[in-house]
Amino acid sequence: MARGRHPTRLHIAPPTQEVAEKYLRSWYGGDIIREPHKFPGLTSQELFGNNNPLEIDFGCGMGVLTCDRARQNSGSNIIGIDFSQKPIFCGIHEAHKSGLDNIKFVRCNFNAIMPLLKPSSITKAYYLFPNPSRDYFNKRANEGRMRFLAAIYNALADQGQFIFATDSSELFKCMETIIKSELQYSNVSVDLDASGICTWYRNIWESRGKDIFGITFSKTGNAPGA
Ligand SMILES: C[S@@+](CC[C@H](N)C(=O)[O-])C[C@H]1O[C@@H](n2cnc3c(N)ncnc32)[C@H](O)[C@@H]1O
Repeated sequence: MARGRHPTRLHIAPPTQEVAEKYLRSWYGGDIIREPHKFPGLTSQELFGNNNPLEIDFGCGMGVLTCDRARQNSGSNIIGIDFSQKPIFCGIHEAHKSGLDNIKFVRCNFNAIMPLLKPSSITKAYYLFPNPSRDYFNKRANEGRMRFLAAIYNALADQGQFIFATDSSELFKCMETIIKSELQYSNVSVDLDASGICTWYRNIWESRGKDIFGITFSKTGNAPGA
């Protein structure tokens, strides 16, 4: 993995038990795959006890965007998912400090959590600055990306948005090709600046003068295979 993509030297204390109970769910992917019925669905009703619109930040890292969205939209809920513990602890501290009630963090592999997504249940899905890999022409890797993207597509409500950004032009091309050829999105917008989206890694890459590739898709049409 390229340098600078993992904040390994983070010194952060775990949240207290009370704070963790409010904000954190730690799930092991193998358990979800074996016994999905033992886990709550990733819905507002099951995780927040209300029917407010729901957004999910896949690979939320330090939860900068996750906390921003919760602060800006008190009438919506947001879930940040990441398998790295220390960055999630940062997000939890921030959520607690800001007294947020509409945010949860799930520590889990987001590929394993897909069975817990429910159809047409989320209004926005963010996939921002994922770690690029070097397997853009590998059939199996692209099938995995397709499964991930199709699961998000199925979970989005009509007019729901999928927002993707990366500093890698190769990853951008790979994802764009899969999305445009396989999924029925419309109103393609590439204006990341107008979206006001700010993340930890967006700040890092922009401060180093890197180009950022961003795209937003809106869902219209039927689920793949429906
Ligand atoms: C480069 S960081 C980007 C974090 C954040 N979206 C941002 O823009 O600041 C990528 C994050 O994705 C997480 N991640 C990568 N693969 C994952 C997976 N399969 N399940 C959960 N988290 C994952 C990593 O732990 C890391 O925190």
